[in-house]
Amino acid sequence: MIRSIVRGVGTALPRRIMKNAEFETLVDTTDEWIVQRTGIRQRHVAAEDETTASLGEAAARAALANAGLTPADIDMIVLATSTPNNTFPATAVEIQERLGMRHGFAFDMQAVCSGFVYAVTAADSHIRSGLARRVLVIGAETFSRILDWSDRTTCVLFGDGAGAMILEGVESPGLLTDRGILAASLRSDGSHRDKLYVDGGPSTTQTVGHLRMEGREVFKHAVGMITDVVEDALARGGITAQDLDWFVPHQANKRIIDASARKLGIPEEKVVVTVHLHGNTSAASVPLALGAAVADGRIRQGDLVLLEAMGGGFTWGAVLLRW
Ligand code: COA
Repeated sequence: MIRSIVRGVGTALPRRIMKNAEFETLVDTTDEWIVQRTGIRQRHVAAEDETTASLGEAAARAALANAGLTPADIDMIVLATSTPNNTFPATAVEIQERLGMRHGFAFDMQAVCSGFVYAVTAADSHIRSGLARRVLVIGAETFSRILDWSDRTTCVLFGDGAGAMILEGVESPGLLTDRGILAASLRSDGSHRDKLYVDGGPSTTQTVGHLRMEGREVFKHAVGMITDVVEDALARGGITAQDLDWFVPHQANKRIIDASARKLGIPEEKVVVTVHLHGNTSAASVPLALGAAVADGRIRQGDLVLLEAMGGGFTWGAVLLRW
């Protein structure tokens, strides 16, 4: 059988770091409130010359270098983003062009904070169906451009950044002990779409709009949805949470991460946390966390890793893989 194995990962962050204290001059908030309620201490904010495409390109180049590959080796790009450079064409084709690729195909995927998890499963399906062999999966966002900077309930939570992963199809005996993507579980439920959304769009207001969120409502649903989908992915893979080496959750809020891990019975030392450094970078958060844990030597070849995300829609999902 064909398995999609991870060949490399890479990340990119805007130059500017914005600490919580800076928000004290913008809105009625404190560093203490933000840290206590979210665990966030800082986030990166894109300058005018830094866009979803430029950050995505930088993360892609880092992943290619990590894999020892060049753009010529890639035949598909899928970019998870809710903050594309333009409504169309897909920002993925801009990244394709920036990488000097005139071959293969590229498209965007929009599942908000679950985007990277959705994109990994799409890449895996393309690989296993034979449509692609090596896929560049990117999560890149510039949420700073859609924030209402006068709304303290949302502007303190998000940040900009990008992460990328290269998946390659290889012949595999297909055992639990073999490398690659082992199982996945995806969900969405549009009846929750008004709890986390952007109040604009081409077909409605002809504007880009700003992010709106009922934070308490999102919080209320998050832990249950996350644990359901993680348990489904684990069951499909034929393992339990105790078998995992690493849990790499979506980085929205430290309290949601802690509560989900506790409910799943995953000890703190197996949970990768970067929310204090990046804030919520939506589709970029899981690959940014993965990139950090690979760079510092925590995640190693052969480890069992569980990726999870939940976001606007609501959308949610999990991917189980042997690194
Ligand atoms: N600084 C200071 N006070 C703030 C604040 C801020 N930045 N933002 C909100 N508050 C206030 C609220 O106005 C409220 O005041 P009130 O009681 O006078 O009305 C109070 O703090 C408590 O608000 P509440 O919404 O109950 O706080 P919370 O403990 O639920 O924390 C969130 C708020 C947004 C941090 C939390 O709900 C959350 O993380 N939700 C999930 C958000 C998320 O992860 N979204 C992305 C999913 S992909």
